Formats: sequence, structure tokens, C-alpha cells
Amino acid sequence: MLSYHDQRLWVEGQPLRALAAGMPTPFYLYSLPALERRIARLKDAFPHAWLTFAYKANRHPVLLHRLASHGLGADVVSLGELRAARAAGVPANRIIVNGNAKTRAELEAAVQMGVGLIQLDAAEEVPRLADVVARVGREANVGLRINPGLDMATHPHLKVGARGSHFGIPPDQVLATARAVTKTPGLRLRGIHLHVGSQLTDVAALEVIAQEAARWYRTLRGAGYPIEVVNLGGGWGIDYAGTGREIEPHEVARRVAQAFAGEAVRIALELGRWLVGPVGMLVVRVVQVKRAWGRTFIAVDGGMNALLRPALYAARHRILPERQGEPITPADVVGPNCESADVLARDVPLPPLREGDLLVILDAGAYGETMANTYNARPLPPALVLNEPATTPEA
Ligand SMILES: Cc1ncc(COP(=O)(O)O)c(C=O)c1O
Repeated sequence: MLSYHDQRLWVEGQPLRALAAGMPTPFYLYSLPALERRIARLKDAFPHAWLTFAYKANRHPVLLHRLASHGLGADVVSLGELRAARAAGVPANRIIVNGNAKTRAELEAAVQMGVGLIQLDAAEEVPRLADVVARVGREANVGLRINPGLDMATHPHLKVGARGSHFGIPPDQVLATARAVTKTPGLRLRGIHLHVGSQLTDVAALEVIAQEAARWYRTLRGAGYPIEVVNLGGGWGIDYAGTGREIEPHEVARRVAQAFAGEAVRIALELGRWLVGPVGMLVVRVVQVKRAWGRTFIAVDGGMNALLRPALYAARHRILPERQGEPITPADVVGPNCESADVLARDVPLPPLREGDLLVILDAGAYGETMANTYNARPLPPALVLNEPATTPEA
């Protein structure tokens, strides 16, 4: 997707300089061919699964349409995401509705639409959904989001299935909630769901989740509940550090198959980051190069307003210059907002830079544009989507 020719950065066979010429910075740049490649890898490994895209990870309509056109369903957590999924062409029965604070209006829209699954986050949600179902006059397929109390190796803000977390139904309430759902007219208990964390880079963690899900599946089936769908959530990590290692779908599929050996279960996945993270980047422009305190600060025109992840999660994204050069010295790339947290990355190996130079912040396709905000009254970043790969010149 990225390469240098004559020391200038090219993206999917086009010079970044030319792509940026017509765009105000900061802007997001997505590659549809890269997205296609990732979808193909996923579908190849999970040909029979109910594959959904987690809409919280990216909201660009072109990407959403492309994901939907390949048959991916949607994991949504709000009325806005529900509408975006329908607008992208996702059939209602491929939509999974999540959320720990679904309003009555959101539940009503989901029931009216006939979505594939509504995943309960709490025992306390049963009566609210029962009211909605009765008022709308339609039945709803329900899944239970189980919080298994697993503490995964990731940033604390990305752990959502550990003990004490406010997401999901704790183990000691699962059977009672299953009973309550089954007794409620209009609710059909069909699935269980475990999403315990994001940016999990070790496939062994995904195996642990699959095994835990299989244990719950067998427990609930053994107790007579007709669970058909096991939703393993998302969480697959990507290679932010550029090590060349990332979660391989076939490896996950192999471990999931082992965990569910002999079971006629339908696996669902809700992948956000893994699908879109590596297909997007944020392009920013250098405003000023400052030397102070023995350091070099590269101030650029987009920071935590355009890409919140470094400030929110201490996330480290790789940053590349549009123009290569020597010498390479470490510099801190900082945003334009009045916050000490507005640092995109420290000690980035960069060539000498001057005002107007472009930098790209890699792997920003997930939780980038969707978390962008208007802090300091800055406009939301626009986006450019690269369609087909053009021919790359000889290196
Ligand atoms: C319930 C649920 N499913 C799926 C996802 C997507 O996670 P990821 O982007 O790590 O694949 C999230 C992310 O927060 C989530 O909360």
C-alpha cells in the first residue's frame, strides 16, 4: 500500500503529494483495495460465519458500502449506527445491536426493523425490551452479552470483560437472565456474546475467549436453552508497531474450530480495528518546527481533534514523512490543541522538516475518523478514498 519512489511517498500507486494537492489537511486517506484484501482474508478463513463490521470503528459511507456489498453485517450501538448500516445496504437480519445503555427509542427501532440479534447487556434490560416488544407487536431474537471476568493483556481502557467492568452480564447472573428471557413473551433466546477487549495481539487470547464461549455455550445448551449463535465479538489486534506480525484469520479459525469441536454452532464476529485500521491513515501538514529544551517539536495541523487515540489510550502510531531525507533524528510530533496530551508521538525518527511538509500517521482507519471531534473549534477532517490501484513506477 505504501512505498517510496525517488524519496517521495506513494500510496496504492499514487504520489501522496498529488493526492494531497486537492485536500485540506488534516484529512483521512483510505484505500479500498487494501480493505478488499482484508475482507477477502477474513471471508476465506470464516466462510460460514456471521461476519459483521463494528460500526464504531469507521463511519465512511464508501467503506461501509463496500463492507456491506461483500456480505458483512453490522454491529451497531446507537440509532445513528443502525441507520448507517441500513443506508449502507446491510439487511436487517445481519445487524447485531449492542450497547450497555440502549434507549427505548433505540430498542424500538431495532425491533421494528427486525434486526438479527439484540444483545442484552444486563438482566435489568429484560423488562425494558419486553415492554418495547409488546408495544411494537414484533418478536425479537436475543443474545446475552456475558462478561466472563477475563483480564486481557491490553490497555486498561480497552478491557471490557474483566471483573468489575460495567459491560455485560456477570457469570453469576447468566442462567437467571437466560431464564427471564425465555419466560418473556416475544423474546427468543438465540445467542451468547463475549467481547472482552480490543487490540488483542496474541492469538492465544482469542483462543481463551473461544474456549470460554464454548464452555458457556455447552452450559446453556445443557440447561435446555436453544443457543444457536455464539458471537465472539471483535478485539483482533493490528500491527501498530510495524513488526510484521498480526492476527492471522486462519489461525483464529483453527482455534475456534477446536474449541467448538463437534458442535453445530453458528459463529458470529464483530470486527472493527482488524478490518479497517490498516487501510486508513491521517495526513497532516507541518505548521512549525520548534527547537526547545534540547528537543525538536514538529507541530502539525491535526492532533487529538483529528486522531484521539494517542491522547486517549497512549496509542503509538507510526509516522512517516512524505519526503525522505537525511539525517534522521528523533522529534516529537505534536498537535495544535491547547492540551499537554496533544502529542501524536514522541521520539519519531524523522528527516529535517519544514513548514508545509506532509506527514502520514499510519493505521488510523479504525477509531480515527469516528472519534474525531471539533475541540478548539476545528473542523472535522475530511476523507479521501482511493479506489483502484494505479500502476506503480519502477522502483
Ligand atoms: C461489543 C463490541 N464488539 C466489537 C467491538 C469491536 O472491537 P475491535 O475494533 O477491537 O474489533 C467493540 C469495540 O469496542 C465492542 O465494544
